Amino acid sequence: MDKKYYEAYDDRYKKIHSEKNLAWAGYSHSPTIEELLKKYGATKQSSILEIGCGEGQNALYLLSQGYNLMASDISPEAIKWCKNHAKEKNLSDENFFVMDILNNTLDKKFDFIYSVAVLHMLVLQEDRDKFLTFVREHLNKGGKALIVVMGDGVETRKSDISQAFELADRSFYDEMVQVATTSCRMVTWDEFLAELDNASLKVLNHYVDETIVGFDKSMVAVVEAK
Ligand SMILES: C[S@@+](CC[C@H](N)C(=O)[O-])C[C@H]1O[C@@H](n2cnc3c(N)ncnc32)[C@H](O)[C@@H]1O
Repeated sequence: MDKKYYEAYDDRYKKIHSEKNLAWAGYSHSPTIEELLKKYGATKQSSILEIGCGEGQNALYLLSQGYNLMASDISPEAIKWCKNHAKEKNLSDENFFVMDILNNTLDKKFDFIYSVAVLHMLVLQEDRDKFLTFVREHLNKGGKALIVVMGDGVETRKSDISQAFELADRSFYDEMVQVATTSCRMVTWDEFLAELDNASLKVLNHYVDETIVGFDKSMVAVVEAK
């Protein structure tokens, strides 16, 4: 079966991991994630799901702090990387699993779901809507979700998904490397809030954040099911 445009990160991770043995996105977690988990009532007993954990900076940190967390990504290479790093840190590697959240469901719901820099990879409206529906359908009663996307709510961008996987120059540390092109769609606040509303997600807080590692500006939304 043909690969979907949003699977291109797998190629990028494979290349950087095999050639450089380094994480594409670095090793620093964003303290803001734990702050928001706590602010919106998550405790170490809460069941937490990360969608699109990538190389696991945030999930590995939260697991090391004793949170009850499962972390998923569509990229087998990302999950392999997370499992290896979990073992190195004496954490259970069973908390990480491969899953395309646009085409699967889990038989479990969560008290808290968070996702950093994943929704902005989804360009097609049907994919973005499926992502938000997955979130709503996997929240326990009273559960909250934190969705972080690249953008400031003003600038918009929509990449050509037919170019996904094509090799392109990108800077990595102090050199240029050729890696797979991935996808990006940045939306305005009006568009994002309308998408959340269409998915029956009620917005508890939304703002532009400048503390998420790897991004100058991120749109942060905390939501619950309507
Ligand atoms: C920009 S990266 C962000 C990774 C990580 N959250 C971080 O902050 O570094 C986007 C991630 O979303 C994952 N992803 C894309 N589409 C997905 C899907 N349908 N289901 C699960 N993960 C997906 C990609 O494989 C990639 O790891």
